This record gives sequence, structure tokens and C-alpha cells, in this order.
Amino acid sequence: MEVVIVADAEAAGTLAAGIVERLLAGKSDSVIGVATGSSPIITYRRLVEAFDAGRISFADAHAVLLDEYVGLAADHPQRYRRFVHEHLVDHVDLRADHVHAPDVDADDLASAGPRYEALLTQLGGVDVQLLGIGTDGHVGFNEPGSSLRSRTRIKTLTAATLADNARFFDHPDLVPRHVMTQGLATIGDARHLVLVACGTAKAAPVAAAVEGPLTASCPASILQWHPHVTVVIDEGAASGLVHSAYYRETHAGKPSWQHY
Ligand code: GLP
Repeated sequence: MEVVIVADAEAAGTLAAGIVERLLAGKSDSVIGVATGSSPIITYRRLVEAFDAGRISFADAHAVLLDEYVGLAADHPQRYRRFVHEHLVDHVDLRADHVHAPDVDADDLASAGPRYEALLTQLGGVDVQLLGIGTDGHVGFNEPGSSLRSRTRIKTLTAATLADNARFFDHPDLVPRHVMTQGLATIGDARHLVLVACGTAKAAPVAAAVEGPLTASCPASILQWHPHVTVVIDEGAASGLVHSAYYRETHAGKPSWQHY
């Protein structure tokens, strides 16, 4: 696991976008796992800038969402598919039919999870999965207690996540209780995980995920079980880490030939 501590959210987003930019330069038909929430917004802005500058194209790429609310109308502003369009897809040449999400509108939600898993397999797997982290340590919407081998399925949000996400809704009671999310094993199948977290509110979950035990009580701790992980955090999010001096020294001495 490579932990990169940067000055601020701008630098974090720029670094994460650089990873996707490099991926697309080498593999135009990449499958990019897209996260929602505030954490990846700067990453998407940098990717749009790279597209505008003619450095990258998404024409052959696919985007796969991590998760989606259950029970919101398809045109609801908080639908995650809409979020991904608003911040990335609508500004680049990514085809709308190349944007995939769990089918939360299906009559049979129990089969929607396995169908999403089959789609991910059919696409050849995810090349880079962008991730944020919840204050309760969730990734995607895998709340504490999620099976470490879970696959895409319905989940119930914790009180902490409901409270965190209430700011996006007119009233706290309007936050959906249920979601569909890629499972922890699904996320673990991606070839490269890139987690972006900024601010002191993320210090405790980042410390638990990076330096705590591998446990379902902190779903983001599955990062430790993956062969290729980049954790990009600002000073605030890094403030709970015991080994931050080591991460800084390692990054400062990173060989020029070694990519993220
Ligand atoms: C939501 C998403 C997660 C995201 C988390 C953190 O719960 N399902 O994928 O990581 O929010 O959000 P933020 O980046 O806004 O702190």
C-alpha cells in the first residue's frame, strides 16, 4: 500500500487524476471505477481539463459506479448516476451507454447484484477503482460488518452515513435507507485501488483503514489485502497516522521509474 500525503485536496485530486490519465494513455478501452461524494470531485475536474487539453479520450472507455441509492426516482438529483454525469461524463467523450451502475430500478433487486457482477466480468474487470471513505470506514456503501468477501448487493445505511449524507437532501428523513453497492470482494477485484480522502473528519477512518486491523468493522481496511493500492490524503486526513513520517520519506525517495 502506497500512502501519499499531499498538501491539500487540489493536490490529491491532481495526483489521482494523473493515475487515470496515465491508464487511459496506455489502454484507451480502460474500465474506470467511479466513486461519488465530495472526495473525487477535483479528480474529475482534472480529468475534464486533461480531456479539454486533448491529452486523453474516454471514447473507448467504460465507467462503472461503485454504488447507488435504492428508491430515488431516476431523475432525482442525488442519484449517483446523475452525479457521475454532472461531474465527468457530460464534459468528456465518454459514451452514456458506457456508464454502468447497479440496476436499482429492477423489480427483482436480489438478482440485480449478480447481474452487475456479471457485467463487470464481461467488461474484463475494473482497471482503476477510485474510492472515497466514509467517516464510519465504509467504502462504496459497504458499512461496518460487511462481509470481506461480499459481492454487489443491497445494504442498509448506518446512522452515521445517513447523518453524513443528509446535507445533500432537503430533509434528513429523505435520505434513502437502502443502497446497492459493489461488495468488498468486488472492489478487491479491481486491479488498482486509489483512495482519496481529505480533511480531519477522515483522520480516524483513514488511520483505521491503513494502520488498524483488517476487519469487517472497518470495511476500508480491505485496502491492506490488495496488491496495488494508492492512498492519497491531505495533511488533515493523515493526522491520525502513526507512521506518517515513514510514508513521507518513502514518497520523497520514490524512484523516478516507479509509477503509482
Ligand atoms: C458516500 C459514498 C462513498 C463515499 C462516501 C464519502 O457514502 N457512497 O463512496 O466514499 O460517501 O463521501 P465524501 O467523499 O463526500 O466524504
